[in-house]
Amino acid sequence: MSERLRAIVEQLDLAPGDRVLEIGCGHGVAATYICERLTGGGHLTAVDRSRKMIAAARTRNAEHVAAGRAAFLVAELEALDLPDQRFDKVLAVRVGLFHREPARARALVEPYLAPGGVLHAVFDAPARSG
Ligand SMILES: C[S@@+](CC[C@H](N)C(=O)[O-])C[C@H]1O[C@@H](n2cnc3c(N)ncnc32)[C@H](O)[C@@H]1O
Repeated sequence: MSERLRAIVEQLDLAPGDRVLEIGCGHGVAATYICERLTGGGHLTAVDRSRKMIAAARTRNAEHVAAGRAAFLVAELEALDLPDQRFDKVLAVRVGLFHREPARARALVEPYLAPGGVLHAVFDAPARSG
């Protein structure tokens, strides 16, 4: 697991009933930390454009998927189609589009934000060794 991703998820200040969208979930490590905090009917929708990453994230979070707490979808943010869904928190960690074209990425997320919803985009540097 990852202390770095745990700390990022803590910054979301999740409430147990929050509806959360994660863009570029990778292996689903942050997703696990998110789901552990959604104990009051909250739900995570996590997307990644890589089929392989979504398969790994689903396996890692099988218990949360089975409980109806999380869904993992193969999707690119630029083509995301989640009609009528709104989220209280949206998280993207190290997803290039948010770094290269932040205004465009924000515009793509905005239709999915519930009133008062918040987007957290984090582009932290990889840990250095040596
Ligand atoms: C550097 S990895 C970070 C994974 C994870 N968020 C983390 O911090 O460990 C970036 C991930 O975002 C996905 N990704 C990149 N651009 C994307 C986009 N436009 N829409 C959906 N997923 C994207 C990649 O497939 C990859 O799994």
